[in-house]
Amino acid sequence: MSSSIITPGFPLARPRRLRKSDALRRMVSENTLTADDLIWPVFVTAGKNQRDAVASMPGVERLSVDLLVKAAREAFDLGIPAICIFPYTDPSLKTEDCAEAWNPDNLSNQAIRAIKDAVPEMMIMTDIALDPYNINGHDGYVVDGEIVNDQTVEALVKMAIAQADAGADILGPSDMMDGRIGAIRGALESEGHQNVAILSYTAKYASGFYGPFRDAVGASGALKGDKKTYQMDPANSDEAMRLVARDLSEGADMIMVKPGMPYLDICHRAKSEFGVPVFAYQVSGEYAMVKAAALNGWIDGEKVMMESLMAFKRAGCDGVLTYFAPEVAKILQG
Ligand code: PBG
Repeated sequence: MSSSIITPGFPLARPRRLRKSDALRRMVSENTLTADDLIWPVFVTAGKNQRDAVASMPGVERLSVDLLVKAAREAFDLGIPAICIFPYTDPSLKTEDCAEAWNPDNLSNQAIRAIKDAVPEMMIMTDIALDPYNINGHDGYVVDGEIVNDQTVEALVKMAIAQADAGADILGPSDMMDGRIGAIRGALESEGHQNVAILSYTAKYASGFYGPFRDAVGASGALKGDKKTYQMDPANSDEAMRLVARDLSEGADMIMVKPGMPYLDICHRAKSEFGVPVFAYQVSGEYAMVKAAALNGWIDGEKVMMESLMAFKRAGCDGVLTYFAPEVAKILQG
C-alpha cells in the first residue's frame, strides 16, 4: 500500500521528525501489545506442592495442580486471559493404546477442573495429541512403523470430549492428523459442547525448536524418529494456506502458526488471506534461545522479549502463546 503513495523527497520529508521523542513515537506507533494478546502455556505435574525446574527453559517450572491454580489466579489478575495446559506424564502411564489420553481423571483434566473451579473467568486451552501418553512418543498411533491417521483421529476425538467434559473452553489439536478438526467438531456438536472453541494448530512445522518442550513433558526419551510424515515441511507456505482453508471449513474457530518467529511470513499470509483470528506459538526453543543469550549477558533479555512479541502483532497475529506471558504482563502493568 505505502509504496503507491507519493511521498516528497528529502528535505521535505525527514522521517526522523516523527521519531524525535517518546511521546511522538507513541502517537504514531502502529501496533500495541497488551496482556490481552497473551496465552500462557504451562506444565502440570503430579503430586502436591510440587515445583520442578525445566533445565532447558530457565524460569519455567512444572507445577502440581494446587500450585498451578495459584499461578493461574495470579496470571489472570495480571490480565492474561488464557492458560494452556500441558501434562508431564509419568512414564508408567505411557502405553501403546494411549488410553490415559481420554481418562476423565488424567492430570490434564484434573488441572482443567481445578482451575475452572478457582478462576472460572479464565479461558482454559488444552493440547490434543497422543504424544504425552504414547510409549513411542509420537502424536499418533504407530502401526508397523507408520503413524496411522484415521485410528489416531478416533482416539483424539475421545481425548477432546474428555477435555470438554472437564470444562475446557478452547481445544488445541496439535497432532497434525488429517480430518481431525471435522471429527472433533462433529463430536462436540453431538455431545452438547457446541460452544467449545477449537484453536487448530493448523500450520505446525516439523521443527527443531520444540526440543526443550519435549524435555518439559518428558517425551524426548520416548520419541523414536522424527515427525516429518505429519508435521509440515519448513520450506512450505502455500501448503499452510490450504490447511488454513481446510481447518476453517471443518469447524476451527481460530488458527495457529507454530513455531512463531521463524514463521512470521506464514502468520502474515494467514491473517491477510483469511481475516480470521490467528495465533502464533512462540515455542520452547525460541524461549530457550532468548533466555540462554540473556543469561550469558549477550543480549538484553527483556528488550528482546518485548520486541519479539511486538513482531507478532506487527505480522498480524491476534495473540501469542508464550512462556514469557507472566513476565511480559508484569512489565505491561508497570
Ligand atoms: C505435541 C506438542 C509439541 C509442542 C506443543 N504440543 C511438541 C511436538 O510436536 O513435538 C511444542 C511446544 C513448544 O516447543 O513449546 N503435540
